[in-house]
Amino acid sequence: MQPRKIRDGIHLMGAIDWDRRLFDALIPLPDGTSYNAYLVKGSEKTALLDTVDPSVSKVLLAQLEDVQRIDYIISHHAEQDHSGSIGLVLDRFPDAKVIATPKGKTYLIDLLHLPEDVFITVDDGESISLGDRKLKFIHTPWVHWPETMVTYLPEERILFTCDFLGSHYATSEMYTGNRPEVRVAAKRYFAEIMMPFRTTIKKNLQKIEDLPFEMIAPSHGPIHDQPRHILSAYHEWSSDQPHNLAIIPYATMHGSTGEMVERLVNALVQQGVKVEPFNMAVTDIGDLAMALVDAATIVIGTSTVLTGAHPNIVYAAYLANALRPKARFASLIGSYNWATKVVDQITGLIPNLKVEVLEPVLCKGMPREDDLLAVDQLAASIADKHRELKLL
Ligand code: FEO
Repeated sequence: MQPRKIRDGIHLMGAIDWDRRLFDALIPLPDGTSYNAYLVKGSEKTALLDTVDPSVSKVLLAQLEDVQRIDYIISHHAEQDHSGSIGLVLDRFPDAKVIATPKGKTYLIDLLHLPEDVFITVDDGESISLGDRKLKFIHTPWVHWPETMVTYLPEERILFTCDFLGSHYATSEMYTGNRPEVRVAAKRYFAEIMMPFRTTIKKNLQKIEDLPFEMIAPSHGPIHDQPRHILSAYHEWSSDQPHNLAIIPYATMHGSTGEMVERLVNALVQQGVKVEPFNMAVTDIGDLAMALVDAATIVIGTSTVLTGAHPNIVYAAYLANALRPKARFASLIGSYNWATKVVDQITGLIPNLKVEVLEPVLCKGMPREDDLLAVDQLAASIADKHRELKLL
């Protein structure tokens, strides 16, 4: 991809990674991703905002072939998908300085072994001049690492946000508009990467919203040319208010737990509660993470394996605990044969969830009628709790 003009002297650089399907050896990328860098020329100086993942550094270096000078490389975030080509850009432009937060500098030295004297660190609110344009740096810690910052270009009213407000979405279209598919990709991204930091996300939203930007240019996914859409989505996703939604991540080995899940799904529907079951044998964890953004209730369904929960459920519980969703209620259903310790085990795996635990329903072997009636009662309790929160 050639550099693409946003404004005179401002270009979208970087690479679209159409084929990448996994990030951090963990996160599914059904829509690929992009690593956006931005070249901003002023009358006196030129800055490159972020670089690209090392796997596609050749693309960026080719785009920079006709660029005469780079004075500043702005590193918003030290994670290697943005910083990993800084060394190669410095090789090409040895007089360039790397601008980062003080924490960013230490991380970049550790991660990339860059020499200390290439850095200029910037405080929150500090600016540098490019001549007729200036770059203002705003610290936005914990989106999603401690050192993150964004850059505001006041003359063009563009806010460059790196991971913040981005999406893993490979597209040849430069701008988001109001396309629903980009909102879904951005929600997936929020769910997988930003959700554990909802409190600081809210603070950072307040911090940037005073700026009169017309465009938000993240370093993943298309540019938000109608930024109110992504901002209102982030407000909703990061809020403490859950939806009238119960989710059921479950594992079933011989169908007993599956029968209880089916009964619970039907009972919740009868009660007016929206429900999404996730069979962890086939679930994309990004779909589960997206549901966790909204869910008021999490019911874990598990068979018992060697007196403990099914390993897929241990994984799901660990993940939910790490993502710190806003859910308010939790419970557990499942089946065992000779003995089970799943309640204690799962409870111990989710200390980060600030939930009221509703009475679990465990049955021996295939569920009998009284077990299924207990599942109905659990559905009624969930509906009552949702009513108390005025979700239903
Ligand atoms: Fe896109 Fe946190 O790196």
